Amino acid sequence: MHPPTPRRLLSGLVALCALTGAAHASSSDDSSSASPSPSSTTTTTSTVTPCVATSTSGAFFDLRPDIAVVPEKDVKLPRGTRTEDYIARGYDYGYNITLNICAPVVKGVEDVVGLTSEGWSTVGGYYEKGGKTYSLGQQSGALTPRGRKLVLQYTGGSPCEPPDDKDKDDKRKRSRGVHEGAAYNKYSDDEEDNDNRDDDQTDSNKQTSSSSKEKVRRKSATISFLCDRSPDTPTAVSFVGTDPDECSYFFEVRSQHACAGAEPHKPGSVGPGGVFAIIFFIALAVYVLGGIFYQRTVVKQRGWRQLPNYTLWAGIWSFLKDTFIILTSSCARFLPVRRGYRSLNSSSRGRYGNNDDENRLIDQLDEEWDD
Ligand SMILES: *[C@@H]1O[C@H](CO)[C@@H](O)[C@H](O)[C@H]1NC(C)=O
Repeated sequence: MHPPTPRRLLSGLVALCALTGAAHASSSDDSSSASPSPSSTTTTTSTVTPCVATSTSGAFFDLRPDIAVVPEKDVKLPRGTRTEDYIARGYDYGYNITLNICAPVVKGVEDVVGLTSEGWSTVGGYYEKGGKTYSLGQQSGALTPRGRKLVLQYTGGSPCEPPDDKDKDDKRKRSRGVHEGAAYNKYSDDEEDNDNRDDDQTDSNKQTSSSSKEKVRRKSATISFLCDRSPDTPTAVSFVGTDPDECSYFFEVRSQHACAGAEPHKPGSVGPGGVFAIIFFIALAVYVLGGIFYQRTVVKQRGWRQLPNYTLWAGIWSFLKDTFIILTSSCARFLPVRRGYRSLNSSSRGRYGNNDDENRLIDQLDEEWDD
């Protein structure tokens, strides 16, 4: 055996191992960012799974635990699951707002102002005022990381201005000019616009655009999430305010789930433990095969001796063997075989006297081994 050469071989192996590791790491990086087949699944899961988002900086957010759900009879919900909607106090607005995160409100709503009955079941937030229910928008799971903020938006709620609003009607009439009759209502807009087009081209263009804009204008809710790490504060929604038209509503949600986390390991891909194991076995294989090659060709060893660092491993093996023998022989007193002797003895001299004898025996054994 030439001690320096195997050592050089070993250091070479370590370098090789590092290289394979780096190569593997870079390949796994590729798969998570750019390569087409596996990454398409990863990116789609992060954008399509509702209430889950990954920011460009790699922070991962999963707000699904904050969704309030309707409790079902047979299904056992995870602990801490919310079954009631979030209530945001409106303070000076005179009404409180009920909403859910990433899902329709648990407490279903009906007769929502300006929505057809198909839309009722997907209302993400609403408030009641004067006996009427106003929607703040249809629920959405499109969680959007925006810098350090995490934002969710509901759109398509009740029309921003109630149809029977006198002021707005007057304003519109004034802007439309005098050629229209007093009996104005929203549903005849299109007809009237057609009439306008016949009468006056430029004027009508202006009006179609303005009236269609007014038609589309619906209430929306923008919810901003803040990370709150204190574990015993429940997720809370606070109402921030609206724009002057009470068309856009702003909320702030404090939740521990809004804190940036690491993306959980996806099934099917190799986790950190797997990567380590792969590197370990590659290194081991290279060490054994390379070592055998070296010992056979350079040192011309045969038999067991052609294994790399044979004396070292043989030494370790004999050491382990010795340790095992020592341990088993000192544990042998706990084996049931000796119970008869022990119980017979303990009746007369007790446990502790017995131990002394055994310790002396073991010491004697150890001395024999040292020789
Ligand atoms: C809003 O909620 C608070 C308590 O959270 C309650 O005291 C208040 O009466 C509610 N206001 C309306 C208009 O329901």
